[in-house]
Amino acid sequence: MIAPDRVVQRLIALGFVVAAGLLASACGQPAPAPAAAPSSATAEAYAPGLGEIMTLQQMRHVKLWLAGDAGNWDLAAYELKELGEGFDDVIKFHPAHEGSPVAPKDAIPRMVTVPLMDVQAAVDKKDSRAFEQAYDAFTKACNDCHQATNFSFNLVQRPATNPYPNQVFAPARK
Ligand code: HEC
Repeated sequence: MIAPDRVVQRLIALGFVVAAGLLASACGQPAPAPAAAPSSATAEAYAPGLGEIMTLQQMRHVKLWLAGDAGNWDLAAYELKELGEGFDDVIKFHPAHEGSPVAPKDAIPRMVTVPLMDVQAAVDKKDSRAFEQAYDAFTKACNDCHQATNFSFNLVQRPATNPYPNQVFAPARK
C-alpha cells in the first residue's frame, strides 16, 4: 500500500510540474525542466491525524474479523501486521494527545501489545475458537484505550455484517 504521505508528496510534486508548465506556455517560452520534488522537510510536515489513523485501524479491525471468520489465515495475518504498523504510527505521530490523561505512547505497549500477540498466536495456529476469543479481547483493548484517553464514546465491536462487497474474504483454493 502507498503510504498517504507519499501520495500527498506526489500530488504536490505533480502540482509543481503542471504549474511550471502552464506558466512557461503562458509566457510563450519553452517549459523549464520539471521542478524538483519538494524537499523532505515538506513531506515530513504531513502527519496523519490520530482520527485518520484510527479510521484505518477501524477498517483493518473489520477485515481482520472477516478474514478470521472465513478461516483466511493469510489475510488475517496481513491485517494484523497492518494494525501493528498503524499503532506504530500512533506512537510516532501522536505520542501524546489533546490533554489525554494517558499518553498513547504509554497506553499502546501496556494495553494493546499482548492482546495483539494473542490474536497472532490464534492465527498462527489457525484456531477459529481461539481467534474469536482473542479478537474480542483485542476489541476490548481498543475500547479500554478509548476509555483511558477520554474517548469512550468511540465504542467498537465485532462487525455484524460485511461492508466490503468487492473483496474476497474466503481463503483462495490452493
Ligand atoms: C492509544 C489508545 C487507543 C487505542 C489502543 C485505540 N484507539 Fe481508537 N482512538 C483513540 C483516540 C484518542 C481517538 C480519538 C482520536 C481523535 O481525537 O480524533 C480514537 C478514535 C477512534 C475511532 C473514531 C475515528 C473517527 O474519526 O471516526 C475509531 C473508529 C477507533 N478509534 C477505532 C479503534 C480500534 C478499532 C482500535 C483497536 C484495533 C483502536 N481504536 C485502538 C485511542 C485509541
